[in-house]
Formats: sequence, C-alpha cells, structure tokens
Amino acid sequence: MRLYRTKDYDDMSRKAANVISAQVIMKPDCVLGLATGSSPIGTYKQLIDWYNKGDLDFSRVKSVNLDEYKGLPRDNEQSYYYFMYNNLFKHVNINLDNTNVPNGMEPDSDKECGRYEKVIADLGGVDLQLLGMGHNGHIGFNEPDDVFAKTTHCVDLAESTIEANKRFFASADDVPRQAYSMGIQTIMRARKILLIVSGEDKAETLHKALCGPVTPHVPASILQFHNDVVVVADEAALSKMPK
Ligand code: F6R
Repeated sequence: MRLYRTKDYDDMSRKAANVISAQVIMKPDCVLGLATGSSPIGTYKQLIDWYNKGDLDFSRVKSVNLDEYKGLPRDNEQSYYYFMYNNLFKHVNINLDNTNVPNGMEPDSDKECGRYEKVIADLGGVDLQLLGMGHNGHIGFNEPDDVFAKTTHCVDLAESTIEANKRFFASADDVPRQAYSMGIQTIMRARKILLIVSGEDKAETLHKALCGPVTPHVPASILQFHNDVVVVADEAALSKMPK
C-alpha cells in the first residue's frame, strides 16, 4: 500500500487525478471503476481540466461505477448515473455506450446483480478502481457487517448512510432504502485501487481501516489485503495516523 499525504482536498484531488491520468495514458482502452459522492468531485474536475487542455483522451476508456440507488431512474437528480453524467461523462469524450452504472430501475435484484457482474467480467475486469470511504468505513455501499459481501448485490442502507446522504434529498424519508453495489470481492478483483479520503471527520475510521484489524466491521480495512492500493488522503483525514 502506498500512502500519499496531501495538504488539503484540492491537493488530494490533483494527486488522485494524476494517478487516473497515468492509467489512461498508459492504457488508453482501460477499464476505470468510478465512484460518486463528494470525495471524487474535485478529481473529476481536474480530469476535465486536463481533457480540455488536450492532455487526456477518454475515447477508448470504459467505465463501471460502484453503485446505484435501487428505484431511481437515470434522470433523477440524485441517481448516481445523473451524478456521473453531470460531473464527468458529459464534459469529456468518453463514449456513453462504454459507461456502466447498475440499473436502479431493474426490480429483480438477482437479475441486475448477475448482469452487472457479467458486464465487468466481459470487460476483462477493472484496471483501476477509484474509491471514497464512508464515515463508518463503507466502500461502495458495503456497510459494516459480520461478513464481507462478495459480488454485486442489493444492499439495505445503514441508518448512518441514509443520514449522511439525506443532505442531497428533500428529507431523510426520500433517501432510497436500498442500492445495488459491487461487493467486496468485486472491488478486490480490480488490478489497482485508488482510495481518496478527505476531512477530519473520517480520520478515526481511516486510521482503523489502514492500521487496525481487517474486519467486515470496517469494510475498507480489506484493502490491506490488496497488493496494489494507493491511498491519497489529506492531512485532516490522516490526523489520527502515527506521525
Ligand atoms: C459512492 C460510494 C460511497 C462513497 C462514500 C463516501 O459511489 O460508493 O462508498 O464513496 O459514501 O462518500 P463521500 O465522498 O460523499 O464522503
């Protein structure tokens, strides 16, 4: 595991974008695993900036997103497809046919989760998976549990996640209660993983994830077992780490 300590969120975003652009430059037809949320917004902005300067070409890139709310259509402003379209896809020359987000409108969970795993397998797996981390250590929507979830599955969201995400909805009641998410095994199969973490409110969990025991109660701790992980975190997020 390689750990990059950055000054702040912007610095983290630039470093993370550097790792992603290196991947795209080295393998122009790579498969990027993408995430939503506040952590990657700055990273996507930086990628868009470099694309606009002519330094990056997404024309052959393929993407698979980690997760999607169950029950939200793509054009719902809170859907993760909508987020990806507006924060990255529409600003760069990625072919939308090469982008993949779980279909939140498929009511049959087994069918959708099986289809999504097949999409990833047919693409030949993920070259670089970008991850944010929840306050409780979740990655994707893999919430703390007694076991590690394996492949793409339908998740009942934890109360703390509903609380954290309600800022995007009219009220907590409007936050969907379920989501489709890649499982821990799906994530761990990525050839390279880039975890980005910012803010003091995640410092304690980040310390547990990187230095504590590997446990499904801190899902991100599983990353200690992956052989190619880059963590880019700002000073605030690293404030509980030994100096
Ligand atoms: C998003 C995702 C989540 C977020 C996590 C952190 O696709 O899978 O695991 O990465 O909830 O969210 P932010 O970045 O908003 O703190």
